[in-house]
Amino acid sequence: MSRVALVTGGSRGIGAAISMALKDAGYTVAATYAGNDEAAAKFTEETGIKTYKWSVADYDACADGIAKVEADLGPVEVLVNNAGITRDAPFHKMSREQWQEVMDTNLSGVFNMTHPLWPGMRERKFGRVINISSINGQKGQFGQANYSAAKAGDIGFTKALAQEGARAGITVNVICPGYIATEMVMAVPEKVRESIISTIPVGRLGEPEDIARCVVFLASDEAGFITGSTITANGGQYLT
Ligand code: CAA
Repeated sequence: MSRVALVTGGSRGIGAAISMALKDAGYTVAATYAGNDEAAAKFTEETGIKTYKWSVADYDACADGIAKVEADLGPVEVLVNNAGITRDAPFHKMSREQWQEVMDTNLSGVFNMTHPLWPGMRERKFGRVINISSINGQKGQFGQANYSAAKAGDIGFTKALAQEGARAGITVNVICPGYIATEMVMAVPEKVRESIISTIPVGRLGEPEDIARCVVFLASDEAGFITGSTITANGGQYLT
């Protein structure tokens, strides 16, 4: 029987590419989304991948939603924490709401999704947790004190949890995408975006599939010796 993979924010952008790549690799995939019903319905129609609506920022909604997915499809063995938002502003203009929303989704969301799934993964002695952080969690970004802090937190979370999961056959890894051609990056003012692209040695934005391929690799049974790793996929923009 195929393994079940759950991808948060899995119906759009990088998440959609991850959901489709996992499906192509033989997983039964559930994709969550928070708001865009139309995009989710279209995604399900085009791909056959089931979508579920809840906010990763809400712990109880995550626990309930995960229970529903598991009742429908079976135990979740691969969790991809991909859901993320931006609320960019220079710090002197950043509101408490802009700070909090990003922390709630991009950092607490990873706790909220992983925590309810962790006991089952420990019992079954198998699990794959793959967190999607960002180049900006590694290097920091002007206008993203909130986002950079949350994404850096995801890296620390990964390294701590990898140590706890290792004996139970659970690997925990993090991928740091650079600037990928998605709606999120296209929302950056064009002039700013062009100046960012000029700092990417490969000379272009990444494709969502560049990240999806990393996920498929980390999710595989063959990647069991890789845990606590940070995989950078950023076209050479930032070398760690
Ligand atoms: N370094 C230094 N100074 C900068 C700067 C930078 N990177 N970017 C802007 N500034 C300066 C501007 O030159 C300007 O200076 P002056 O007033 O002296 O001219 C000042 O900061 C204010 O700039 P703006 O007028 O642009 O300010 P704003 O409030 O309108 O917007 C901003 C600021 C929202 C941060 C905007 O510059 C922006 O959107 N930047 C892009 C941030 C970014 O990269 N976000 C990534 C989104 S994609 C993503 O997050 C996915 C991922 O993981 C990679």
